[in-house]
Amino acid sequence: MKENKFYITTPIYYPNDVPHIGHAYTTVVADVLARWNKMLGKKVFFLTGTDEHGKKIADTARREGKNPQEFLNNLVPKFKEAWKKLNVDYSYFIRTTDKSHESVVKEMLQKSFDNGDIYLGDYEGLYCVDCERYYTEKDLDNGNCPIHKKPVEKLSEKTYFFKLSKYKDKLLEFYEKNPSFISPKKRSSEIINRVREGLKDLSISRTSFDWGVPLPFDDSHVAYVWFDALFNYYSAVKDKNGFWPADLNLVGKDILWFHAVYWPAFLMSVGLEIPKMVFAHGFWTLDSEKISKSRGKAIGISELIAITDSADSIRYFLCRAVPFGDDGDFSKDAVIKRHNGELLNKLGNLVSRTAGLIEKKGIEKCKNSLLDKIKIEEIERYMSNLELDKALNDIFSFIDVCNEYIQEKKPWETGDKKVLYEVADSIRLISILLWPFMPSTSEKISKQFGFSIDDFSGLDKPLDENSKIIKSEFLFNRVED
Ligand code: MSP
Repeated sequence: MKENKFYITTPIYYPNDVPHIGHAYTTVVADVLARWNKMLGKKVFFLTGTDEHGKKIADTARREGKNPQEFLNNLVPKFKEAWKKLNVDYSYFIRTTDKSHESVVKEMLQKSFDNGDIYLGDYEGLYCVDCERYYTEKDLDNGNCPIHKKPVEKLSEKTYFFKLSKYKDKLLEFYEKNPSFISPKKRSSEIINRVREGLKDLSISRTSFDWGVPLPFDDSHVAYVWFDALFNYYSAVKDKNGFWPADLNLVGKDILWFHAVYWPAFLMSVGLEIPKMVFAHGFWTLDSEKISKSRGKAIGISELIAITDSADSIRYFLCRAVPFGDDGDFSKDAVIKRHNGELLNKLGNLVSRTAGLIEKKGIEKCKNSLLDKIKIEEIERYMSNLELDKALNDIFSFIDVCNEYIQEKKPWETGDKKVLYEVADSIRLISILLWPFMPSTSEKISKQFGFSIDDFSGLDKPLDENSKIIKSEFLFNRVED
């Protein structure tokens, strides 16, 4: 089973507010990759969830006059609803307040402690609650957190430390042997250089609040939220034979350090295998500023879908507009432009025009001469390199080829049923390849053209001549810009 499985994760999100485009981005891409790997015939496990402990959640709940559990029970469903609206089909939604997860965290803390990697000491530092991390004086931006631009708090506490310094050489050796563990490549050297400069031991417990998992060896402390959170990836599949380790932890570039350094060190300490790859994507900006709910600059999920009234259109935009790994600027105009131009004019027109002509003229099975114009192997290679934009680019070039073919052969004049068969068969290929990106659009096309979407082995099964092909409603509606 091991070679034929694909275990992919998103970060678990802080449910201190409703989800926004930054959360949607990783989750949609993870869903696309999960679906793609399903189509390749792999056994897929796709995990997402919420990160519910820590000072940030405790403080926000208190400000709203609620206890943390009550506060969370109100917000967590908003994440599940958002993913449903975006056609995200995860295998499991983990909450770090799940009892089964908490007991894994305790077990891991105990193991690490028994292995001599955890000791008691004193900590004093500058803490950003929004990041849930300490900064040093030199990290700050005019005395503020460099990410949230808000004042940091001076905290001093007795704390347990994890012996991160001990793992410096082991980590460097691991990176050397697993060069694609930190991906994309452009981000790995920065991390590796920082590790080479040396690692300080990491404070992994808190006494200043109690909203967390108590340490099994000292229940006056709760676990640092990142120790707790990272182990979600393990606790979700612990009882599922053969899924561990994760094949891909998708994260944003701001949390790469936690996943590329702390995470493998914790796993080494407890003797678990390390994920194959941590991939960091870039950031979307809005009017060239970071999108962030804590600074009031965000786009919610319903608002995102409402731009074109199509979840598939947003999914398409997020995957197509920016190479995965790079930063990008988000604008409603750009979404509408791609929606009207690529989805409606190119894909939508091809489908409705072909179905309309076939309804009148019919089809006659023949060898599809367009097949050698679609670069399936290249598309598969792009997808395995997480170059989603390039894969879509190839699929849409093939859509252009099909539109040009109809234009050139004029089947509405000639009544050539073979040409119509070739185009219909090509539409079948297009919709199978697009299914991971735009599942409900592809499913509409498959119903309309009478074929099924099971897995990529279907790419080699030509369209049945007896398929009942019907003209139906438009796939996309024009949006005024
Ligand atoms: N709870 C931690 C993750 C723990 S994983 C063991 C966390 N949560 S978060 O809710 O603050 O952020 C989740 C993800 O959203 C991060 O990967 C972050 O990079 C991503 N994004 C937040 N804003 C973003 C953009 N504007 N653009 C793209 N992704 C962004 O961190």
